[in-house]
Amino acid sequence: KIPLVMDVDTGTDDAIAIICALMSTEVLDIKAFTAVAGNVGVDLTSSNTLNIVDYLGFDIPVAIGAAKPLNKDLHTAISHGATGLGDVIVPKSNRAFYERDAADTIYEHAVALQGELEIVAVGPLTNIAEAIIRYPDIIRLIKRITIMGGALRGGNMTPASEFNLYVDPDAGKIVFESGIPLVMVGLDVTLKPQLPLAVVETVKRLDNKFANLAARIFDFMLRRCKQFGFDPPNVHDAIALASLIVPRLVTLNKYVMTVETEGTVTRGMTVADFNNVTGKEPNVSVAVDVDCNLFWDWMTGKFLSAERD
Ligand code: BDR
Ligand code: CA
Repeated sequence: KIPLVMDVDTGTDDAIAIICALMSTEVLDIKAFTAVAGNVGVDLTSSNTLNIVDYLGFDIPVAIGAAKPLNKDLHTAISHGATGLGDVIVPKSNRAFYERDAADTIYEHAVALQGELEIVAVGPLTNIAEAIIRYPDIIRLIKRITIMGGALRGGNMTPASEFNLYVDPDAGKIVFESGIPLVMVGLDVTLKPQLPLAVVETVKRLDNKFANLAARIFDFMLRRCKQFGFDPPNVHDAIALASLIVPRLVTLNKYVMTVETEGTVTRGMTVADFNNVTGKEPNVSVAVDVDCNLFWDWMTGKFLSAERD
């Protein structure tokens, strides 16, 4: 099994990614979830995560992480609603959070697994950067970080930047330049799969906890997109998670990359050295294409097998 720590700012699409991860425990050994401020404050991202994990019947530790970006004020996202989960209410868990904070939790598992730990990071990269700052030796101890964030071209927060990197570009720079093997699953691919109504209908017909919760989140996403006049919903974070489990979902190209931390119009922009001006070795494998049908089939298959279990 793949030993995994998932760093989240739950968030609607984070929630879908968490649900998919919890339906994949035949291949994933989820050591912990770590929560970071992003879509909403860390009080909410951590409690949303704990509530979901507990509600779905899992006893996996949830650690609270950074309440704000390393050097900047926190920008939250309006599109996930005031709680981060729209109008979806998940019963409150009575379980306690893990006794260590996110950065310590990540380091604990990195040390225990001696180079085998995989991380999927689908929020601002503050917790991961904090772990690198506190424990510089962690760099040799992580197998790979799959990041939902950034883009080779374009943004969703500004014309140049994707939300997660915009929120904490300083953390992004630390992680991108850390030397840890990185896979970037950014907007170049996560904007492609748009939630098909047929998938929603299938999930709605099922009657298991995973599907029921996902159906409510999908409903909120669809209503929200209609309200704002947006395209059908994207599930960014779930694609990053899925690409770890089914690598052939995405096509990867390697680039030298870093992150703009200030910039008058480019804060949080992930900058690729397309022409190898730096002459450096590529440090990031970037997802440049995704098999949308395979992704939705994979996700639907997860809900169908949860129904049979
Ligand atoms: C990212 O921003 C957040 O709002 C989503 O959860 C996702 O991680 C997409 O840009
Ligand atoms: Ca997220």
